[in-house]
Amino acid sequence: MVQLFSLALIFLFIYLVHILVKFLLSPDRRRPKLPLPPGTLGWPYVGETFQLYSQNPNVFFASKVERYGPIFKTHILGCPCVMISSPEAAKFVLVTKSHLFKPTFPASKERMLGKQAIFFHQGQYHSKLRKLVLRAFMPDSIRSKVSDIESIALDSLKSLEGRSIDNTFLELKTYAFNVALLSIFGKDEIKYREDLKRCYYILEKGYNSMPINLPGTLFHKSMKARRELSQILARILHTRRQMKLDDQQHPDLLGSFMGDKEGLTDEQIADNIIGVIFAARDTTASVLTWIIKFLGENPSVLEAVTEEQEAVMRSKEESGKERLLTWEDTKNMPLTSRVIQETLRVASILSFTFREAVEDVEYGGYLIPKGWKVLPLFRNIHHSPELFPEPEKFDPSRFEVAPKPNTFLAFGNGTHSCPGNELAKLEILVLLHHLTTKYRWSLMGSQNGIQYGPFALPQNGLPIKLFRK
Ligand code: HEM
Ligand SMILES: *[C@@H]1O[C@H](CO)[C@@H](O)[C@H](O)[C@H]1NC(C)=O
Repeated sequence: MVQLFSLALIFLFIYLVHILVKFLLSPDRRRPKLPLPPGTLGWPYVGETFQLYSQNPNVFFASKVERYGPIFKTHILGCPCVMISSPEAAKFVLVTKSHLFKPTFPASKERMLGKQAIFFHQGQYHSKLRKLVLRAFMPDSIRSKVSDIESIALDSLKSLEGRSIDNTFLELKTYAFNVALLSIFGKDEIKYREDLKRCYYILEKGYNSMPINLPGTLFHKSMKARRELSQILARILHTRRQMKLDDQQHPDLLGSFMGDKEGLTDEQIADNIIGVIFAARDTTASVLTWIIKFLGENPSVLEAVTEEQEAVMRSKEESGKERLLTWEDTKNMPLTSRVIQETLRVASILSFTFREAVEDVEYGGYLIPKGWKVLPLFRNIHHSPELFPEPEKFDPSRFEVAPKPNTFLAFGNGTHSCPGNELAKLEILVLLHHLTTKYRWSLMGSQNGIQYGPFALPQNGLPIKLFRK
């Protein structure tokens, strides 16, 4: 009896110690429970999705920032999220604590681009891919492509000459696509260009469709085009392997992927090639479209850019050297470069990006719970009157002084920042050189609307008329 009693006492003791230890070690005790950021979550499930889509998303975000400050919570498309719009918070999420915030995309987008594409990953696989992509797009690799890019630009402009262009964006997509293929495959691309283009254009039609994989749906057609793209890429890989060319001869992205001694599978290569085309084309084409609009609306800026470009042209003629543009020429276009920066700021074609907290994270006295989405709002940072006075005004001279860290995030920052930014700037400069020195254009129709699809774009893709000077 006594034995039984003491056994019970021992169990009670162990139980009490267990409770005590649990209490002492509980995260709630170690740090006081932090509040969530301010803001409202809206209706259950739908949250504030309706408010977001019923108006210009930037108006929605801006009114929230005004009400709650640079960090607030909301609830869109079934996900609770924290929006951030200060340079400090952007630095925290994208740069210093990037390992705590993983990229996140809807599953249907992952399936379409390919699960192994660089954007979806963190850690070792991501840094390996990133090294290979950066190698192909760093200045030393793309400087040899300037004259090939120039001939693509001249062909594009020639095809538009003297025409009424219903949708400038659509035409510039072709330009950006051709430059992307050149940087991926080198000159080998020409023979695959039409096949790749046909499949890619079917694929993208399904990108924003309902992800229903039944015969006849856009999604189904686009998944089929996706498979065909993989087959074309497999043929290209096969041919290159047979030729046993080393990557020295191929300073392009495909060479970089294939030359890696750690070895990527064909599927990994295909997912990443399609991913890079996706990242490179509509972004660059929409920035170019915005530049054509802003130059059309600001005659004094256009005149200054034209003078700068004519000076580049004259200096080449005088030196008697080749008339083709060089990498050095493109580094000698400071005013045009500021026009690109200011366009990236005003248009902020990627209004924000998506991350997800991989654990509970504390920031600025608030709790960001594990699993919540975190959205750095690039556009709100770029349109903050404290950082950029008169933010709606197009004024390239503001970039005569370099912007402060993490205030100008058109290409992101940190672990996932844009590895293609040098190529993007290069192809924009080359096209602008010929556009401003050889052509005049006029904007057609009303120009004030913006459409989102998903990148911010002038209404109807900016109809223009283009004439040779
Ligand atoms: C003006 C045109 C462009 C803009 C504004 C732009 C912007 C961006 C931004 C903001 C990111 C980071 C997104 C994030 O952190 O979530 C990004 C990532 C990326 N961009 Fe660009 N981009 C442009 C053109 C290009 C081009 C031409 C290429 C390829 C040649 C490219 C390839 C990529 C890739 C592969 C990533 C993913 C990097 C990673 O996850 O590590 N981009 N881009
Ligand atoms: C990215 O973050 C680093 C560290 O804060 C900073 O030095 C750099 O200027 C930032 N880059 C941009 C484009 O703001």
